[in-house]
Order: sequence, then C-alpha cells, then structure tokens
Amino acid sequence: MIRERSLKLSIGSATELVVEREDGPRFAVHPIWLRERCRDPASMDPLTGQRLQDPSDLDLDLQVTALTEPQPGRLHVRFSDGHEADFDAAESLAEAALPPGRHDCPEEILWTGALERLPRAEWRAAPSRAELADWTERFLQYGFIIFSGVPNALKQVLAVASTFGFTRVTNFGELFDVRSTPNASDLAYTPIPLDAHTDNPYRSPVPGVQLLHCLVNETSGGLSTLVDGFAVAAALRERDRDAFEILARTPVRFRYRDPCTELVASAAPIEVDAAGRVRTIHFSPRLDFVPLAPPEELSRYYRARRVFDHMLRSAEFEIRFLLAAGDLVMFDNCRLLHGRTGFDPREGLRHLQGCYIDIDGPRSLYRVLRRREQAQAAST
Ligand SMILES: [Fe+2]
Repeated sequence: MIRERSLKLSIGSATELVVEREDGPRFAVHPIWLRERCRDPASMDPLTGQRLQDPSDLDLDLQVTALTEPQPGRLHVRFSDGHEADFDAAESLAEAALPPGRHDCPEEILWTGALERLPRAEWRAAPSRAELADWTERFLQYGFIIFSGVPNALKQVLAVASTFGFTRVTNFGELFDVRSTPNASDLAYTPIPLDAHTDNPYRSPVPGVQLLHCLVNETSGGLSTLVDGFAVAAALRERDRDAFEILARTPVRFRYRDPCTELVASAAPIEVDAAGRVRTIHFSPRLDFVPLAPPEELSRYYRARRVFDHMLRSAEFEIRFLLAAGDLVMFDNCRLLHGRTGFDPREGLRHLQGCYIDIDGPRSLYRVLRRREQAQAAST
C-alpha cells in the first residue's frame, strides 16, 4: 500500500487494485484505466510516449485477471485480453491523486487587497535553475510576479518573455507600446484611468499571460493595479450566488475593430469548468456586449455585472503599486485583472512595452524544472 496526501492505493484482492480517499469513496481502479496506461513497447511508443493502439477499441468488459506486487512499489497486472504489464505504483498514485481539471502545477494562492508581500524578484538574464523554479512557482501560485532590474532597453520584454514561453504575436505585433498618444486605438494609450479588466477577451483563445515592462515613468500617477479575479469570483459565489451563476452562464460578446482587423468572441465573464472550478475571467466593461434577452433577464445580468465590477474595483481586492523604470510585471491574464490609475502626461513621460505568451509556457517550465530536480535527487 502506498499513500500520497489523502489518497492510498492498495491491492484489494487478487484481481482488484483499490484507491481510497480519506474523505471520500473507496473504489476499484477500472481495468481500462490501467490498461490504457500500459507503457510496454507493444502499447506505447517509448520515444513519444504516445499510444500505439486506440484505447476505444479495448474490450469494454476488460477485467484484471491477476494482480501482484513482485517488488515493493512495482505492480504486475494481467488483463483478460491476455496483455500483461508492470506499473510503478507511485506514478499511478500520483496521477490518481490529480483532481479533474488540475494541471500538476502548484495550488493557486488566492489573494485580496490585504496581500502584504507581493511576489517580487530581482531579474537576472541567466538565472540558476533554483531561481527560475522559484520565480515560476510563485507566478503560478499568485498569478503574477514583479521583476526589478530588467535592463532599461527597448524589446527587453521579449527577452523576459522568452525565458517563460513563446511570444504570442497578434495584430498589435510581437509587442505593444503603452504610452499616451493622440488618436489612440485603445484607451490604454491615453492617460485616463483604466478599471480592472482582462486583456483581449475578443480573441479566441485569449492571451494567457501578459508582460509589461516599464521603460520610463516620470509621472506621479499611473499606478498599476491588479486584482485576483479567482478570489473575487469565490467571494461573489459566497455572497451573491445568483450574481455568480448569471455571470457564469451568460455568454457575452466582446469586439475589437480597427481598419484592418475585426475580432469577435463570446465568453461568460466567469468561466467555470465541468467540476465547478473557476477557470477563466473575461471582463472588460468597455468592450462587452451582452446579447439581447428579455428585459427581466437583462436586468438580472446588469445587476450581477455591477456587483462583480464593484467588487473588482474595491480596495478589499485591489492591490496598487508603482512600476518604475526597469520593473516588469508578468501576470496570468485568465485569472488576474489589471488596470491603471490616471496620470497627468504634462508631468513627464510614461512608457511601457508589453507582450503576451501562453500560460502553457510557465506551466511546462515548472514541470520540466521539477522533473530535473527529482532526477537529480534520485541520482544523489
Ligand atoms: Fe490591459
């Protein structure tokens, strides 16, 4: 029998592998669940880790006909289709312990405006493996990290982005400049305050991660703001269940249009997965267009949006900080909302460069670093 957190795996009988949760049910592992994880060369290509046969063709009445533990932590299974395979019990348990919808990454640490120690780090162009693991872990836990000491040069944001993933090129190019300009195509390029929003909800898929590098900030305003949308959604679920559910089931249309581009996508402001977990926040009240519905339905939606928006804008949930020259904030655009207080462009220049990467990048980096760390620990 082996254990992991609140889960244990044991041989229930000669033909039954049993999984048991401390706080939940005890059940036999389905034979097909095991069979489709066979790693022998007849079942899985050893180089790619991909299956050599379609598991949908397995016998739906497949049975385990023999189950033994020839050595500790090693299971040997014989199936009713005649196939035999070995399993690493710890590996099987680790996968069994992964809740649906989770990505084998650090648990999110939800935060509010009371967050005292912001995740900060001194940027280094050639970080050690431990530094990189620390940065990536904190980013995945808090949904953001603020670097200082990023070289104060154009396009440095791309160098930082390439440490964590691949730049997502959009119709704005590989990067975008945020400074006030006449005839701006986006309100970000004006000095007016920007309320909490997620970027580009009109894209499908939306950019997963945004990086913003401050090159110049000579203004006294223009504070950056962040809100943990998952924390606010959780609070809304507690305080106003009706508002939460309306926002989770109303697909809102988001639009962007310029002379060369017309982007339209629909998404619920609070996107929930099949397990009921909040997965993505799509919120940009300057760009959202709810489809027409009977007035009583729309009244409920507008009330729900107001409650959510006022929570997002409240000091209870919002943090504010000044991005100075050389600072760079990287944040999860599917979880966090960002904004900016207004500033007076007559005080001086304010210039940021930004770009996007996908969330896959930091998640992959985290897993690879952990795998290397485990391999190193095993070899010493
Ligand atoms: Fe933005």
